[in-house]
Amino acid sequence: MGELSPELMDKLTKVCLCKGIPRSTMKKAILEGADTLEKVRKATGAGSGPCSGRRCTPKILELLENQGKA
Ligand code: FES
Repeated sequence: MGELSPELMDKLTKVCLCKGIPRSTMKKAILEGADTLEKVRKATGAGSGPCSGRRCTPKILELLENQGKA
């Protein structure tokens, strides 16, 4: 794992498991101006799966806190 770039890890790591949306997509949305949970959900489609965002919401909030820096 140590040889994978952060960019690749972002592509491989799914934030929204229901919809299979990777962290790279979330970060892109945040960097493009989605500054609230609602906006990130709208821009990416996250949170609309069978779990209604129960699993991905905490991860999205964490990314928002870090403003795409993490
Ligand atoms: S993990 Fe995102 S809606 Fe279920």
